[in-house]
Amino acid sequence: MKGLFITFEGNEGSGKSTQIGRLAARLLSTGREVRTLREPGGTPIGEEIRHTLKHSPNNQAMTPEAELLLMNASRAQLVREVIRPGLQAGEIVLCDRFYDSTTAYQGYGRQLDLKMVAAIIDSAVGKTRPDLTLLLAVSETTSEHRRAKRQATQPILRDRIEEADRAFFVRVARGYEAIAAAEPNRVRRIDATRAVPEVEAEIWKTVAPLLGRAV
Ligand code: TMP
Repeated sequence: MKGLFITFEGNEGSGKSTQIGRLAARLLSTGREVRTLREPGGTPIGEEIRHTLKHSPNNQAMTPEAELLLMNASRAQLVREVIRPGLQAGEIVLCDRFYDSTTAYQGYGRQLDLKMVAAIIDSAVGKTRPDLTLLLAVSETTSEHRRAKRQATQPILRDRIEEADRAFFVRVARGYEAIAAAEPNRVRRIDATRAVPEVEAEIWKTVAPLLGRAV
């Protein structure tokens, strides 16, 4: 059985984790092996890198270039340790963020050179590319609102990336739109301002046909 690699993308508060959980449950009920991963992270090495990137008290002075390389160090490990073996074994691999996050956040958000960003991504992933990317799109106002709600309901854990200003997240959203426009065959843009079950139904409509092809 052929593996299937699906990635989820979107700004903070776009509802990715909820939708990944719902899709994973549906896929499991079809009898397929499903693996859910997140980036940065997903391996013991990657989770340490995630802590450095997001929560470490020593990360205040991190430069955009160091951020770019750490994201891709985590990714290089995840691709080789987990994603490739999983796909080889016929698993459906769902990943909460993958290289489009780097293009959107480090390329558009931090404004690093897009060619350089693409070259670093290439060396991290090689030929391992998503079969489908679901871009959950919400307005910046919705994203800000959901971000604030999360911060209010979850234990206070400082997150360096979420400390960026509004203009940064607006550039990230613009980056995602550019990616979706450039790769319409791979990237499916989903309006995630709607209710959770509606978004879930559209995702299932997009994924179900791929299962036929993957089996
Ligand atoms: P999250 O798992 O809560 O989405 O946190 C991951 C954060 O890392 C989020 O702010 C997006 C950011 N990120 C990048 O800036 N570049 C990347 O390549 C990835 C994978 C994530």
